[in-house]
Amino acid sequence: MTASKSMNPVPVGLDDGYAVTKLVLADGRMFAIPSRARLGKANVTWIDSAEQRIFEYETESQIFAVGEIEGEATEFDAYPFSGLNRAIVQHALQQAGLEGHSVHAVSGLPIGSFYLKNGSRREETLARKRASLKQSVQPLDGRLPAGIAFHEVIPEALAAWYDFVITESDGGVQIEPERLQAPLAVVDIGGRTTDYVVVADQAVMHASSGSLRCGLLDVKREVADGIRGRFNLETVSERRVEASIQSGAVRLFGKNRDVTDLVQRAQRQLVERLYSETQRQLGRGAELERILFVGGGAVFLAAHIRDWFPNQIITEHPAFANARGMLKYLRYVCEASNAA
Ligand SMILES: Nc1ncnc2c1ncn2[C@@H]1O[C@H](COP(=O)(O)OP(=O)(O)OP(=O)(O)O)[C@@H](O)[C@H]1O
Ligand SMILES: [Mg+2]
Repeated sequence: MTASKSMNPVPVGLDDGYAVTKLVLADGRMFAIPSRARLGKANVTWIDSAEQRIFEYETESQIFAVGEIEGEATEFDAYPFSGLNRAIVQHALQQAGLEGHSVHAVSGLPIGSFYLKNGSRREETLARKRASLKQSVQPLDGRLPAGIAFHEVIPEALAAWYDFVITESDGGVQIEPERLQAPLAVVDIGGRTTDYVVVADQAVMHASSGSLRCGLLDVKREVADGIRGRFNLETVSERRVEASIQSGAVRLFGKNRDVTDLVQRAQRQLVERLYSETQRQLGRGAELERILFVGGGAVFLAAHIRDWFPNQIITEHPAFANARGMLKYLRYVCEASNAA
């Protein structure tokens, strides 16, 4: 390691979601790893060390295995402040080539965890999340840790708004004035939560913003239940379920079994719930200039959400919209105010 590595902090947009941890760097590179880890050592020996697919990290005297393992559920309220989260984030930073670097990061919390309904910030929660990711995490295989030296937290869906309003081109960075003034809504369909945020005159409209406890992980749970029921299994691994959602088939007893009907049914249930909730939050969206759909769910459900509103758009690489916005916030909002 050279000294310059730690002297020049690397800015990172870090969307550490319940399902997928997404990372965007200033040169535009994007990384995503499943938010999948478990407490304890992996107890696997790699026959060929170049093939290592499980990585161990230690934080606060606890050891976590990250990578190709049977993941522990992230769907608990304290996940954003947990060692599990820190180990996954450290692994994502390592995957992005940031070994030994000092990192400046902006991450997020669902809008419902960020604000009280009256619009005041949950300062204690924000301080807890800020502090958590600044704690050190040590890779156990001798790699140098990436250390988060500066960390700010913003509401997840609002990050996608920053991404839309601040644009970068060869000519430099620009704030798009007509996007800044126009009333916009962001719908972020994630793993555990779907976030709604409405921004008008540069202010969050709390009455129509909030988090719904509903997302793609519900599809996963439904499909897992369906597979267990249909094939009379006591358990089915989380990774096998994930694969069956992607392919429509589950491999059991050495054979592929078609489960497209289970996947479609679970998907339809989620879409119906999201549709009615989106109508409830945004009405017909007549007075909104644009409705942006972001999050991994906007990719996975693209065919089902195509014509909900005449004024909707699905942004480019929607799964990374929050992470891109977090990076822009770090580089153009935080640093500007720090310099002032
Ligand atoms: N590029 C993609 N193509 C297809 N599906 C995707 C893609 N990216 C993510 N997904 C799926 O979409 C789901 C939601 O992903 P997303 O990254 O938005 O969740 P998250 O941000 O981790 O969740 P939350 O916002 O609730 O914390 C995941 O289950 C993932 O499998
Ligand atoms: Mg998300």
